[in-house]
Amino acid sequence: MHTVYKTPAVTATTRPIRDLDADFLVIPVFENDDLNGERELDRASGGEYSAALLRGAFAGKLYEQLFTPISGDRWKPRSALWVGLGPRTELTAEQLRRVATIGGLAARQRRFGRIALLARWSPAVPVSRAVQALAEGAVLANYEGTSYKTSDDSIAWLDRVEIRAARDADAKAAERGRVLAECTNVARALSNEPGNVLTPREFADRAAKLARAADLKVEILDEKKIAALKMGMLMGVARGSSEPPRLVVLRYEPKKAAHKAVLGLVGKGITFDTGGISIKPSENMDKMKDDMSGGAAVLCAMMAVARLRAPVRCIGIIPTTENMPGGRAMKPGDILTSAEGKTVEVLNTDAEGRLILGDAMWYARSLGVTHLVDVATLTGACVVALGKTTSGLFGRPATWVEQVRRASERAGDRSWPMPLFDDYKDLLKSDIADFTNTGGRAGGAISAAVFLKEFAGDLPWVHMDIAGTAWAEEPRPYQPKGATGVGVRTLAELALDADSWANLR
Ligand code: BES
Ligand code: MN
Ligand code: ZN
Repeated sequence: MHTVYKTPAVTATTRPIRDLDADFLVIPVFENDDLNGERELDRASGGEYSAALLRGAFAGKLYEQLFTPISGDRWKPRSALWVGLGPRTELTAEQLRRVATIGGLAARQRRFGRIALLARWSPAVPVSRAVQALAEGAVLANYEGTSYKTSDDSIAWLDRVEIRAARDADAKAAERGRVLAECTNVARALSNEPGNVLTPREFADRAAKLARAADLKVEILDEKKIAALKMGMLMGVARGSSEPPRLVVLRYEPKKAAHKAVLGLVGKGITFDTGGISIKPSENMDKMKDDMSGGAAVLCAMMAVARLRAPVRCIGIIPTTENMPGGRAMKPGDILTSAEGKTVEVLNTDAEGRLILGDAMWYARSLGVTHLVDVATLTGACVVALGKTTSGLFGRPATWVEQVRRASERAGDRSWPMPLFDDYKDLLKSDIADFTNTGGRAGGAISAAVFLKEFAGDLPWVHMDIAGTAWAEEPRPYQPKGATGVGVRTLAELALDADSWANLR
């Protein structure tokens, strides 16, 4: 496999635009933008910006693009992309993030390696948020999904990104954006890996290496330790495969944690989901290599949390296994006993995610976490309910769900709350065990969450179903086709923002 992402150097500056150390300028412009103090930009473009405005060829509409040369004495940049931001008062950080990705991809296409992005003032987005979003977007553009092509078309990368703000060079915000985007790219690379490469053992090995490099404490539990802990649900899923399961445990323990809280992050790590004996149809089954995206999100969020020194202790748990229909596989009707002691009647072996997560959530609780979030490509039903741009949120109390929703909004990972009324528990009634692992088609995303709730104890807990959002079927101007890295920035933003939730319950 060749390199799939590179992390450029990212700096923030207030230097005059003409002195920016870049070949390529990305100039975000609002509708009806007279460029305030920056009118020299239009002159440097040879008047092409104002001419395009007059001709009606460019109006600053959201994501609209205009290329111009840049010339003139003492101007270092040679060329510019003007990108529309829409109305100044309606700007969002996510729009800036996307504009920066559009700019970064355009620069790479033209083989410019050093770019500068201008942070334009808007009353709707504070400067530090704007600088962070631009840094994130530019670094997210430095990702390439075609990792196994042997043709030698050499890929052009960005190696330097400068964010230019008129007044305030917020180096911390730029660094936060760089780290969050780099960690998102790592998660994308892992999710794009095929199932024969990224087996549970390989996933655990890579997690250990990446986590150690970020100064996290790492423990990998093998099949023997998993058996000793009596994780019957994780072992039940793993039975059908000749690849042994693993449980990855990551710890972030800052010396001076500002809070007593311990954030527990649990991610589904199915490295390939055939469905098991309840086997899936062959059409699109190849996509099930991304069924470890929740696990990748937890790993990469933990890396970001450590590198950005979040003010709260965090524990990340990733149960990882294949779901295969081997000769020793669990069968519909089998009864599994979870590590917590609760019994489950397996009606459908394809509802495997909730099984491995249940044991992992119990383990997180046994390690003393006070707040729980799990992330999983859990149900096709969630894709039906919310589509492919919005993740489903389930949990309690509503205040904790709202914290996670707001973190996802800041991160640019859109999510929305779904109901979890007690009556839904009836969907999982079993004749012979405590409950079943499937609730039928109606409300399928909700019954999956109801199952997980059984393993959340009485902790504040949120389940994020990313089945629809983990994989982009079509490329967008701001997103490559394939794994999206959804969840990484949400979980990291949540931990970074612990001051606003850690003392509540
Ligand atoms: N990994 C799948 C969910 C999934 C489906 C993710 C489509 C992405 C796209 C999960 O393990 C699964 O198979 N869920 C079943 C549950 C059912 C058997 C109750 C589903 O959604 O069909
Ligand atoms: Mn499945
Ligand atoms: Zn699955």
